[in-house]
Amino acid sequence: MTTGDFSDRDGLIWMDGEIVPWRDAKIHVLTHGLHYASSVFEGERAYNGNIFLCQEHSERFIHSADLIDMKMPYTAQELNDAKYALLKANNLTDAYIRPVAWRGSEQLGISAQETKTHVAIACWEWPSYFGDEAREKGISLQVAKWHAPMPNTATTASKAAGLYATHTMSKHTAEANGYTDALMLDYRGLVAECTGANIFMVKDGKIKTPNPDCFLDGLTRQTVIKLAEDNNIAVDICQIEPDELLSADEIFVTGTAAEVTAVGKIGDMTFEVGPITRQLRDAYESLVRQKKAVAA
Ligand SMILES: Cc1ncc(COP(=O)(O)O)c(C=O)c1O
Repeated sequence: MTTGDFSDRDGLIWMDGEIVPWRDAKIHVLTHGLHYASSVFEGERAYNGNIFLCQEHSERFIHSADLIDMKMPYTAQELNDAKYALLKANNLTDAYIRPVAWRGSEQLGISAQETKTHVAIACWEWPSYFGDEAREKGISLQVAKWHAPMPNTATTASKAAGLYATHTMSKHTAEANGYTDALMLDYRGLVAECTGANIFMVKDGKIKTPNPDCFLDGLTRQTVIKLAEDNNIAVDICQIEPDELLSADEIFVTGTAAEVTAVGKIGDMTFEVGPITRQLRDAYESLVRQKKAVAA
């Protein structure tokens, strides 16, 4: 559930080292992160009290900040401890977790040398990103007019807030046209990713997925590639032309929020929720529930 007023909920938020009531987790309007998108975030899930790939998410969070020249004031271990403390304080075992870091209001202008990096972590129950119907029928995608940028024009390997402006516009257009999400091509016109998930195609029993050279190399993507290989399903990381995607037997997307979700339609072309998608979805669902806690 991501609708409703997110400033007006019950619960607790971790903010700059303290756990505060949800409604008190506020920042000033003259905050650098708000004006100049000097902000990075993470999206994680806890299953049965264990945060899946907790350490990897913390490391990516720090790396994202590093890529936009923003120093993260906490170590991965401190972030891990904060996430587990917050889950406990909120009495949640199955939750979506949203860490966010931003430059504060200590200086306002392009230069941000005097700003501090602030960090907050929120968590809430969020069972399914695309809804239960997507599980059986798959989601629908419309090709976006916005493309993933060239790697030397944006910090494409980071989860930097500024990169998501085109994702939101693309998703809005897709939704206005009756689709679930947008499929984004890259600067060369090749298949890139969806607005918050990576994409895979299945053809003749083999999997293909684009090389993440100008978009996020999702942790779920990496996990699903390993799961496929463990199940003797070949995975080819390669360039995919949009037309080739339309000839696929199955298509699915992966992401922490989306997990493994079938694609039922791209434009006017329809696809079955096929056996490899189901197999990997089930394997992913059991893996995330097996993992042991990394932090206390
Ligand atoms: C743009 C984008 N691509 C891909 C992903 C999938 O990444 P992950 O599997 O690490 O959640 C996400 C979600 O974080 C995303 O926002």
